[in-house]
Amino acid sequence: MTIPILDLKAQYRKIQGEVRTAIDEILESQQFILGPVVEKFEAEVASYLKAGTAVGVASGTDALLLSLMALGIGPGDAVLVPPFTFFASVSCITRLGATPIFIDIDPENFLIDYRAAESFLGERARPHPGGHGLMDPKSQCRIKAILPVHLFGQNCSMAALIALAQKHNLYIVEDVAQAFGARAEIAPGNSKPAGTLGDLGCFSFFPTKNLGGLGDGGMVVTGRTDLAEAVRRLRVHGADHKYHHLEVGLNSRLDALQAAVLRVKLRYIDQWCEERIERSRRYQSLFLATGLVGRQILSLPDPGDGQSHVFNQYVIRASRRDELRAYLSGQGIMTGVYYPVPLHLQPCFAFLGHRQGDFPHAERAAAEVLALPMFPELTREQQEIVVQSIQDFYRP
Ligand SMILES: Cc1ncc(COP(=O)(O)O)c(C=O)c1O
Repeated sequence: MTIPILDLKAQYRKIQGEVRTAIDEILESQQFILGPVVEKFEAEVASYLKAGTAVGVASGTDALLLSLMALGIGPGDAVLVPPFTFFASVSCITRLGATPIFIDIDPENFLIDYRAAESFLGERARPHPGGHGLMDPKSQCRIKAILPVHLFGQNCSMAALIALAQKHNLYIVEDVAQAFGARAEIAPGNSKPAGTLGDLGCFSFFPTKNLGGLGDGGMVVTGRTDLAEAVRRLRVHGADHKYHHLEVGLNSRLDALQAAVLRVKLRYIDQWCEERIERSRRYQSLFLATGLVGRQILSLPDPGDGQSHVFNQYVIRASRRDELRAYLSGQGIMTGVYYPVPLHLQPCFAFLGHRQGDFPHAERAAAEVLALPMFPELTREQQEIVVQSIQDFYRP
């Protein structure tokens, strides 16, 4: 039996009728770019997230880029970001001529370590000579924003990051590409949807995400009408009305076909997140029974409370990771490594002058992480096979 890391066909089989009807409606209308179906989807996402405004764009990458553009971030500015994330969380910064300041991750959860951010801002950053705010002593750039990434579906410590941003007058741009449906606790018993706590939240509808389309798609959500207007303008070449360009933007619109399918899938998102959470609990109890956990062999993700982690990926740390991965592949079990090279060591960011050893937690994570099969339709039997095979590998 082959166990895929994600089984989109199983999901499609369940909603095939609804998806086809939605696509047919678009084909009948022949309205493919933006238009009423995209507007409906934007309104539904805004209402689901209880966010002010949602703006559909062409991808999660563009959601990040357009958000930073809307904030006016560019050359001479710096943004705090973790080095252990998908490439786009950082490329959106350098694409605009701004400078990423890497903040190492918390080894417990792979997320930006707010204590490391706090000590950077409190101890290493300097007052900007132009007044108002802080400067990165290395690049001499003005520190403008924090870009936390809710990696694998798990919320960052937003209350602490918001307090830091307020103290140092920084924007927060949330990378929520992997965490649609997650909730962040801001005070005991009080949580809000991930992506609605910062100035802007950036979602991806790449097919493998919890809410995934039939291709690329993304969304920016914000409670600020000025930023929503800026993103709306920037996604259509910076035009406030047709052929009148206030600034140079992008061509980055959500297709009506994507919106139509995503409207169907949005109706299932809570159920799918719940099913992912339930499967994470099942992995947890199966793994604990193996006796491999916590003995420098395996460590498991924190299951979180409520919807604080919606398990877009179920990522463990494993000793002899690459050998284990090859063994599982031989057993027909597909796994993933997100991400094998931390971003401060990527050739294209060599100009930032970082070296091996600069961000040890990110580097260790890159060597140890393994994403196991995780999707709402994953069966108990499949999970038992995954865990049994891992046990067989370590105790032949
Ligand atoms: C953390 C993170 N940020 C940004 C992106 C970019 O999204 P997209 O692939 O839709 O451009 C992704 C998705 O691949 C992601 O996982």
